[in-house]
Amino acid sequence: MAIPGPGYSITMRIAAPPSASAAGDLTSAVGRAGGVITAFDVVESAAGLMVVDLSANALSADHADEITDAVNALPGVTVRKVSDRTFLVHLGGKIEVTSKVPLRNRDDLSRAYTPGVARVCMAIAENPDDARRLTIKRNTVAVVTDGTAVLGLGNIGPAAALPVMEGKAALFKKFAGVDAWPVCIDSTDTEEIIRTVQLIAPVYGGINLEDIAAPRCFEIERRLRELLDIPVFHDDQHGTAIVVVAALRNALRVVKKDIRDCRIVVSGVGAAGNAIIRLLLHQDPADIVAVDIKGIVHRGREGMDPNLAEVASRTNKYVQAGSIHDAIVGADVFIGVSAPNILTGADIEKMNSDAIVFALANPDPEVDPIEAQQHAAVVATGRSDFPNQINNVLAFPGVFRGLLDAQARMITDEMLTAAALAIADVVAPDQLNASYIVPSVFDEKVAKAVARAVVAAARDGQHVAGGAKESAATS
Ligand SMILES: NC(=O)c1ccc[n+]([C@@H]2O[C@H](COP(=O)([O-])OP(=O)(O)OC[C@H]3O[C@@H](n4cnc5c(N)ncnc54)[C@H](O)[C@@H]3O)[C@@H](O)[C@H]2O)c1
Repeated sequence: MAIPGPGYSITMRIAAPPSASAAGDLTSAVGRAGGVITAFDVVESAAGLMVVDLSANALSADHADEITDAVNALPGVTVRKVSDRTFLVHLGGKIEVTSKVPLRNRDDLSRAYTPGVARVCMAIAENPDDARRLTIKRNTVAVVTDGTAVLGLGNIGPAAALPVMEGKAALFKKFAGVDAWPVCIDSTDTEEIIRTVQLIAPVYGGINLEDIAAPRCFEIERRLRELLDIPVFHDDQHGTAIVVVAALRNALRVVKKDIRDCRIVVSGVGAAGNAIIRLLLHQDPADIVAVDIKGIVHRGREGMDPNLAEVASRTNKYVQAGSIHDAIVGADVFIGVSAPNILTGADIEKMNSDAIVFALANPDPEVDPIEAQQHAAVVATGRSDFPNQINNVLAFPGVFRGLLDAQARMITDEMLTAAALAIADVVAPDQLNASYIVPSVFDEKVAKAVARAVVAAARDGQHVAGGAKESAATS
């Protein structure tokens, strides 16, 4: 069901005979090969030759080669060069630092740098809280990874993770005006990562952990939350959980069910599944049944790590054992953050009426969404080519905007829930339907609403700089 998209977009520079049919021949060849043309520009025209730039979306790198071969096979036509537009976007990186102050003359220099800056340094030395007022700390977030769980690519290391972290930084800036910077650590040792983040923390107003594999990510986040006086947020966990809770709130509105009556099956108890379960428990569902690669998670199951044991102790009221196929029977909601194609339409058919299915494994969901739609009332995926995309971009920019604005020293589940409810409520009642349960990531209202909600929750809990009550943040 995949369709050619801009992730595999090429521009071919083509030399072709200047016949009346040349343009049609070229575009037909691309179409026959399954490419989707996005641009056609004549860059050179002469009596015996025309040169065109033809841009097209493909399904994959191999498919892009097939499209190029199809064009090259036309009589008299030569593809001179193929540019991968995704690689072009990455040349030299995607973000940069720019100065906010003028540096035109000696006066400017004396204020922005020595000798003037020394007085500012001394002010901060005397009152470290002034760092938030007088430096980049008030608006800066570290995007920290060890490169061990990058997208669906797994452990590809810190350098290979950098394009993703740059992209994240670009999204922070675009959607919330937050200055984020990649910190890719060349270690997979839990203690080294914790110590490294602790050592660099003075510069930042918040830490966004990214693409660090479970279960190490849980320990790293928990310990950093204890050690640091700035919020620490693992996006793969909490960003996902926020958007899932938001989407579920609206899906339940569509099917007119109360979460307190719903049995929810969560497939996958890794980074995303763990956090989703924890945040959902605050909503008081009738029951949650968690399933991982070894089957249903239940009290008494052998060989569970501490995270899984905690999940077992807080879910599965009736201590059900078995497989995902057993768990799904009679469920109201399925949330998949596990693996592709583990369910079929026949499984979804066994759910309660007006079932809700969030199949979020990327790039291939737990169940084919088209099949799921035959039996479920609301279906969401992580994909951009299907309605109801569960996309963390809805959460993390606004969350950090709010944390920085509130000068929050920690992040709590109350703030995460506030963010989720804010995202849900951006969808107006007259917009809400089975194909529109979350707002568009380009809706400018989203980050602002999330930031406002996080600021209010931070101030309510007084988890802000100078706040009276700074009780333990949830870990
Ligand atoms: N917004 C989104 O759409 C979104 C957000 C986060 C994660 N995801 C997707 O969710 C999946 C999991 O992400 P993660 O970071 O939590 O990974 P993870 O590796 O931390 O956890 C994976 C979990 O899935 C379980 N699992 C693996 N195979 C299974 C199977 N056949 N049946 C049942 N459970 C199985 C594992 O036991 C583990 O608990 C990935 O595909 C990821 O792309 C999507």
